[in-house]
Amino acid sequence: MDPAGSPGRLRSATVVLGVAGGIAAYKAAELTRRLVEAGAHVCPVLTESAERFVGAATLSALASEPVRTSLFEEPEPIPHTSLGQRADLVIVAPATARVIAAYAAGLSSDLLVATLLATRAPVLVCPAMHTEMWEHPAVRENLATLRRRGVHVLEPDTGRLAGGDVGAGRLPDTARILEAAEAALAAEAGRRDLAGLRLLVTAGGTREPVDAVRYLSNRSSGKQGRAIALAAAERGAEVVLVSTVPAEPGPRLEVVPVETAEEMAAAVAARAAGADVVVMAAAVADFRPKAPAATKLKKRDGVPEIVLEPTPDILAGLGARKRPGQVLVGFAAETGDVVAEARRKLESKGADLLVGNDVSAHEVGFGWDTNAVTIVSRTAAVEVPLSSKREIAEAVLDAALAELRAARGGPPGPQGEPQT
Ligand code: C5P
Repeated sequence: MDPAGSPGRLRSATVVLGVAGGIAAYKAAELTRRLVEAGAHVCPVLTESAERFVGAATLSALASEPVRTSLFEEPEPIPHTSLGQRADLVIVAPATARVIAAYAAGLSSDLLVATLLATRAPVLVCPAMHTEMWEHPAVRENLATLRRRGVHVLEPDTGRLAGGDVGAGRLPDTARILEAAEAALAAEAGRRDLAGLRLLVTAGGTREPVDAVRYLSNRSSGKQGRAIALAAAERGAEVVLVSTVPAEPGPRLEVVPVETAEEMAAAVAARAAGADVVVMAAAVADFRPKAPAATKLKKRDGVPEIVLEPTPDILAGLGARKRPGQVLVGFAAETGDVVAEARRKLESKGADLLVGNDVSAHEVGFGWDTNAVTIVSRTAAVEVPLSSKREIAEAVLDAALAELRAARGGPPGPQGEPQT
């Protein structure tokens, strides 16, 4: 515990402290002092009206950092992005109805809201306003929107307000704001449970050329594989997504476009050795035309005879060469006994987990935004009922992380170095 009584996540953290123009802005001075005592580096950002309530000189002296107020009059050319990128945490205390609305609407009208939009750090919003405003549906709905997006909200206290009124809307004590700040940082660290791990994910159905314009493929939309890649990157992993369907790269997410099973096999082979977890969510064609025509086959030449040959089984190949401590996850889209088929494939392909889904069921599998799966390991079969593909992705990643920990005899990632 540090002198401020916090468990210490604020120590060495860069905290952007946004102060909006409510009467509680005067409490920002005390909050700045306590954050500094907890070891944080505080960068105060004031809205124009906040400057009427609290002196910039006060906050700047307490923070040993210039107070920023404008998008345009700072020494930095683009202060919002540099602040947003540097921040480990952004606190808005007090947050007024206007700042909450602008943040929810993405209206970057001042430096504070622009910084909120330009950061990937956790954000703690501490609303403080008169009871009537606090209870207004506009404020409630804007806060619900922010919460849904993962913003932490510290509910105001009930007590004496400006003008002598008593009611809900009072900024909580500084100690409670510090506690909430610690909790936001802890939640962020927990969310990054895949940090330090490398994931290779495949997505989409492969396309196997018949001639210059036609191909054989399947109904896979690539949505489940993409959801897994995105969720893993957000949980801190370095992810490569080998995909037959277009996907946006992002932070910690590289996208390698491929089309055929052979291209996918080559892309995977080049990267698999470095991966801690490989998730083969792609629907790889099992057969391809043996001799695709280089030009378009003409109708007038009659119905072509297409001779098929097997494609390389990428997952089975990885299973045969699997290095200790690596986790292989396969998928099985089935129309019969999903668990029995998943178990069979787990063995035959040398995978550690097999995610089975019954693609004959409504709202499950190919093309849908929802899925229902059974995650089969050597020791268990865990059913995940109908959920969004994002939720299924989280469950698959949880199971892969548990396998990895079991295989390596200890917690990988931030809690312990992966033993490769
Ligand atoms: O054998 P089946 O196609 O049902 O197996 C499905 C699993 O095997 C999926 O994880 C899929 O990505 C993978 N697979 C593969 N290479 C193939 C066929 C399937 O890696 N040629």
